[in-house]
Amino acid sequence: MAKMGIKKRLLIQNLSIITLSILLFLGILISGIYHYYYSGTAEILKNHAENSAQFSKRYMDLSPYTIRDQVQDIQTNFSLPQAETQVISTDGKMLSSSEGFISHERLDFPDIQDAFRKGEGTWMGTNPETDEHVLAVSVPLESDGKTVALLRFVSSLEPLDDNFKTILATLIGIGLSILLMVFVISTFFSRMITDPVVELTRASQKLAKGDLEARMTGTYKDEFHTLSQSFNDMGQELLKTEKLKNEFISSVSHELRTPLTSIKGWGETLLTGDMKDEEEMKTGLNIITNETDRLIAMVEELLDFSRYAKGTFEISPHPFPFHRLVQEVVLQLDKKRLAREMYIVLKNGEPIKPEADEHRIRQVILNLLDNAIKYSAPGSTITIRYHRDHGNLVFEVEDEGVGIEKKHLQQVLTLFYKENEKSEGVGLGLAISKQIIELHGGQLYVRSEKNVGTVAGFTLPLNE
Ligand SMILES: Nc1ncnc2c1ncn2[C@@H]1O[C@H](COP(=O)(O)OP(=O)(O)OP(=O)(O)O)[C@@H](O)[C@H]1O
Ligand SMILES: [Mg+2]
Repeated sequence: MAKMGIKKRLLIQNLSIITLSILLFLGILISGIYHYYYSGTAEILKNHAENSAQFSKRYMDLSPYTIRDQVQDIQTNFSLPQAETQVISTDGKMLSSSEGFISHERLDFPDIQDAFRKGEGTWMGTNPETDEHVLAVSVPLESDGKTVALLRFVSSLEPLDDNFKTILATLIGIGLSILLMVFVISTFFSRMITDPVVELTRASQKLAKGDLEARMTGTYKDEFHTLSQSFNDMGQELLKTEKLKNEFISSVSHELRTPLTSIKGWGETLLTGDMKDEEEMKTGLNIITNETDRLIAMVEELLDFSRYAKGTFEISPHPFPFHRLVQEVVLQLDKKRLAREMYIVLKNGEPIKPEADEHRIRQVILNLLDNAIKYSAPGSTITIRYHRDHGNLVFEVEDEGVGIEKKHLQQVLTLFYKENEKSEGVGLGLAISKQIIELHGGQLYVRSEKNVGTVAGFTLPLNE
């Protein structure tokens, strides 16, 4: 499983790095200690042997004929406390030993052969007679340039071996403890990585199966904290989208049903009537036409939304007189305004000719003004103003209406958001307007104070 995968990999990675380092370190340390102990001892014996050979050459009158009588002097002069001192004859037989035991066998150790041939020999090995690990150094004793005997020092390496083994065992013990510690710590740290991954896997599997409430509950640090938070945010967003979708469907159905009910009602009324009352016919057909227009506008808005969602929303800009467009929109909504006995003050400044998609900008202004009328009390005043500002056209609609709560201000620009569920409208107007204005390189904004009024406006780059 995935859990074992990462954990194992991290563990193997950590352990192999540490093991290699420990092996390297131990290797260097052990070879250093080995050298210090064994070569050091060999060096001491060698120096002493060489000095003894020099001394005997200079001050002792050795001769092949009297050598047997001189071995006692040699022993007295050159013996060492930590090594057995041997005198060997030129035919390889032991003449004397500081330990008293004299073997009559011909001695044939490598150090003896080397001493005869090269003038000095060192050998480390096991003495077959005593089965002891020894170090032996031999040098020739000379008289008139001729070898008369060999001086040989044999030191037992057993105490050294014991010391060395203890050190080796200690070092290997330390190495193994470090490895064990690394293993425990690595396991702990790799759990810190694998635990959130395992939880994330489970949570995302749940989410994929449609459980939008699935969340990560563990508390993590660093990147995993961010990751689990983003995951939870994602779940939250999905939940919100799901809720929006359902609200949208019910909202759209509701909005479509109102004009359809009215059309159907009037259709039936006219059908059952005698078709002679011209006044009634006119009223009915008028309402049917108006409601159909409302339906068409709504379907247009929905289509815009689907284009917006698909990213195929396009604009075709061309220059047009702005004041004419504003006047047309005001006129278009005049009936609605009059029905609510509201006033519109148009504070237009200089004539401006922006290069923009007139049809789309009309849609935006229509929505802003429509909102201002919809969300204001009868009898109040709406002010429309626009002017040039730093190469931009700034357009604003100000009302004295219900206003928007501060905490909802950001959301009113998102799709389907309505502060009041029951208000007429789908909640697409501002989101689509925002998209239109941003496609023109401008910005749409809403400032509002609850129960005081709202300013909704946009900027449009003029490229003059
Ligand atoms: N001038 C305003 N005063 C108070 N609230 C407003 C104003 N303009 C917008 N709102 C709030 O913002 C919400 C979103 O506005 P938007 O124009 O996007 O949707 P709508 O008018 O409800 O529906 P649609 O425009 O799609 O018919 C509105 O439902 C309303 O709650
Ligand atoms: Mg609107």
